[in-house]
Amino acid sequence: MAGGSNNRSRNLLPYQGLPELAGLCSMDRAIDASWSLDESVQRLKRLHYVLKRMHEILTSRITAEPIYELKTAMSYHAYLFAEQVTLVRKRVAEMREPPLELDKIPHPALELLMDELQSAPDTAHFLMGAYQDVLPAIIGCCIRLKHDAHPLADAPTVRVAKLIEFELQDLLEFGNHAVYCLVNEPEVEHAQPWLGHLRKCLAASGHIDGTEPESDEVPPRFFSKPVAQYDPEPKRDHRFQDRYNAGVNPESFLYDERFSARDKTLMMYYKRIRELDVPEMMASILVELRDDEPWEFHMEMSRQLWDEARHAMMGQVGFVSHDIDWTQIPINFTWSKNLNEQLNARERHGVLFFIEQNLMPKNGKRYEWEVATQSGDPLSKLFQDFDWADEVLHAQIGRRWYVPQFGNLSEALAYGDKCWSQVLSHWQSYRDKGLTDHRNWWPDLYRQACLKWGVQPDPEALAFHDTYEEKRADLESI
Ligand SMILES: [Fe+2]
Ligand SMILES: [Fe+2]
Repeated sequence: MAGGSNNRSRNLLPYQGLPELAGLCSMDRAIDASWSLDESVQRLKRLHYVLKRMHEILTSRITAEPIYELKTAMSYHAYLFAEQVTLVRKRVAEMREPPLELDKIPHPALELLMDELQSAPDTAHFLMGAYQDVLPAIIGCCIRLKHDAHPLADAPTVRVAKLIEFELQDLLEFGNHAVYCLVNEPEVEHAQPWLGHLRKCLAASGHIDGTEPESDEVPPRFFSKPVAQYDPEPKRDHRFQDRYNAGVNPESFLYDERFSARDKTLMMYYKRIRELDVPEMMASILVELRDDEPWEFHMEMSRQLWDEARHAMMGQVGFVSHDIDWTQIPINFTWSKNLNEQLNARERHGVLFFIEQNLMPKNGKRYEWEVATQSGDPLSKLFQDFDWADEVLHAQIGRRWYVPQFGNLSEALAYGDKCWSQVLSHWQSYRDKGLTDHRNWWPDLYRQACLKWGVQPDPEALAFHDTYEEKRADLESI
């Protein structure tokens, strides 16, 4: 028992030895008055700035990051940072602080630190800077806040700090592991001057939470002159072969009554893994509308972006569960490429909403779940069940953030449909340029699956050869 307690009168001692103060802390700790609301708000605002920049920076790297595992992890990590930003904003707003001034830059050196991270010239620099320098600094800031904030008076802040610290530990582990797997010794050496520069920025800012002395001297810019801009061109690693291939129209197979539910699960796993193009496209909306939409828009769209990355991974898992090598299947990326290159952010959002809204009727997500249920593949049923739930959420997000820009739902849908019709699929020109011959990959995949299942292929299914040349994914003519 701490010294102070021994001096308390008998009636002030813990009742029957029970933890006092709802278990928040000891009485001695609670008597300590070295904390203030101002200090709490100040630290939370600085933490908020860095978390928000982390969200933006990760989001802006999703599209052009080629490595699949990093692309999906960045989608996840960006989403977690968005949740944390929301937690901190909510807490600051509770502390009678209007105006909140949450967009104010707390210190120029902190801005420089994040600008530098945004401008990391390659994946190796980025992984080391983000996960081995900035992330530990954020965690340190949360640990200090957890210890320093008054555990009773400022209990909600302590909870926020604890939750963020807890959640970031997984990211730290992922990042360290990624550096170990992807970054070689010469790259580590080569990055040292810049990593040293990041530490100087951190020191000059008085650390993320301002608990160290601040300096008026901000180090000169290293990579961030100018600050790197978003690259809208989707990139994939070498496992994604023949990416321009649009030689198979899976929707056409899925809605054809001649084919069995079991065979259709293959097309559904393909449709899922192909959804990797949605985070690539959605990231562009978030980057381009950054200052034009409120935080709540970014929060909800980041959740949706992460869901789409999850859907892609569910497709990957589906193929693995059947021992099918998904890298042999051309995973098309021209949807995100064409949308990012041909439309502006508002138009892209229109296309996204139009497609997702059309997933809701009878022949959309419910149908996919029914097919999965009949297929005898329990994993397909499980995934389609959650995929359906996620898509209902996405349709609601669209109704909250996209539809209100129009007079009514049908106008909003018509705009999305019109924007989608404007997108040139470049079906012929990709072939003319030698980027793909739109090979029909379906028979190979189907034969491989039948071999694993120990069944004879259905001749009609084997002969399927509908492409995207004249029909788009909603089976409308091009
Ligand atoms: Fe999805
Ligand atoms: Fe969706």
